Amino acid sequence: MNHVAVLDFGSQYTQLIVRRVRELGYFAKLYLPEHLDAIGKPGAIILSGGPKSTSDEDAPDIDFEMLQGYGVPVLGVCYGMQLLNIKFGGCVKKSNHREYGNAMLYPVEQTGLYEGISAESQVWMSHSDTVDSLGEDCRVIAKNQHGTPVSLQWGESFFGIQFHPEVTHSHEGTQILKNFLDTAGELAAFHIEDFKQELIDEIRAKVGEKQVVCGVSGGVDSTVLAVLLHEAGVNVKAIYVDQGLMRKNETAEVEANFKRMGVPIEVVDASERFLTALDGEGDPEKKRKIIGNLFIDVFWDAVGDAEMLAQGTLYPDVIESASNENSKASTIKTHHNRVDRILEMQKEGKVLEPLAELFKDEVRELGANMGIQQDILDRHPFPGPGLAVRCPGVVTKERLDIIRDCDHIFISELKESGWYQKTWQAYAGLIPVKTVGVKGDERSYEYATNLRAVISEDAMTADWVDLPTPLLRKVSSRILNEVSGINRVLYDISSKPPASIEWE
Ligand code: XMP
Repeated sequence: MNHVAVLDFGSQYTQLIVRRVRELGYFAKLYLPEHLDAIGKPGAIILSGGPKSTSDEDAPDIDFEMLQGYGVPVLGVCYGMQLLNIKFGGCVKKSNHREYGNAMLYPVEQTGLYEGISAESQVWMSHSDTVDSLGEDCRVIAKNQHGTPVSLQWGESFFGIQFHPEVTHSHEGTQILKNFLDTAGELAAFHIEDFKQELIDEIRAKVGEKQVVCGVSGGVDSTVLAVLLHEAGVNVKAIYVDQGLMRKNETAEVEANFKRMGVPIEVVDASERFLTALDGEGDPEKKRKIIGNLFIDVFWDAVGDAEMLAQGTLYPDVIESASNENSKASTIKTHHNRVDRILEMQKEGKVLEPLAELFKDEVRELGANMGIQQDILDRHPFPGPGLAVRCPGVVTKERLDIIRDCDHIFISELKESGWYQKTWQAYAGLIPVKTVGVKGDERSYEYATNLRAVISEDAMTADWVDLPTPLLRKVSSRILNEVSGINRVLYDISSKPPASIEWE
């Protein structure tokens, strides 16, 4: 299959290259450079950026002869370009400072890679190496505002770009990628059915006859995962753990949904265990670890002899997590499902994460392809540690009940007004500070709730939603009238970065 092979040299943005290529309608897959011999029959190859300098001792390398042997167009991005320049006999200079941020791009000619690209185009750079001398059969095809070469071409089919075309700050980046792909022969189209078949084949090969425990939360990712495993004919046991950290009526709704889809589900009520384990703990990372570890314990309590664990980890979880063995990306935040116990299991090869190469919208597409109903696919994401990350400080049943009531009102009103579909994620959380107010004729001394509604593409960045004032007014009035324990309603107007979507 003439797919696009993307070689991962460790940049945080490598998966975005895959995503952009798929958005252009072609089938792209990610590989490690040392697995160059295993990329099958590619139609084009892209070398990603990476955090290293080509002069570092442990800088990742590539088998250049093998790369050339494929006889297909090659694009080197950032580190990838510098590496190609060296391979063609050129030199790379290590600079003392890293150039980071927006820059201007000036194509030498508006043809080939720069066909239809503006004479001056904004691009986004993040690099410390620059081209010092050019390799064999090399020409400069674009420069930056200082006249420095930032794009090279070797012969007919090897290209290099210093900037990152995959990030949205590179305004014409997608078109530049498209121009590159246009230089290739016919490329395989990206069809979710084909991808599904690949995933099913991989799952079958990895799992064999083993039993897989699949944690389901009712969210899009774990639901799609469970249905995918079921469709792959795997001996899967779907387990839903009620951590006592779920939203109002959530457990009953999830159980009913799974029953309707015919996927076997076992509901484990562990709410007391979780609340006891969390008792008195106010530190966000410790809370996450307690919940994550206990979650796995509850699994193995429920199914002691299960040999594998399946998780609905997606790409944004992967890049925001600690060391991922399949990627060289630097650690950003210890987060999400990567608690110690799972890391151990991962080392033993007991964790299955078939959706880890996918973005949320692709998971939804996969789910729709498998016949999962739309209201499940349209559900907002919900964090693994549940309401605990929306309850800063210590978690108590009283606080959780307040959050549940506020959240239920907010989400119902969003659905009623059509804003649920227009927002990427929304929720009500607790601000555990009591302030003075007046309720009826009496002085009140109660908590505040924070309403959060954001739009986002993939959770890596997010912006708050400008909800209509009458809607906010209605939600606020309902919460203040209907929820005991709350006398203030605040709307969170923080973007990510620097804030995050959840409060913890
Ligand atoms: P933050 O708060 O980091 O959240 O901006 C980004 C997205 O990830 C969700 N989230 C989690 N999802 N396990 C998950 O499966 C977690 O531990 C977790 N923490 C945050 C969050 O709801 C948002 O969609």
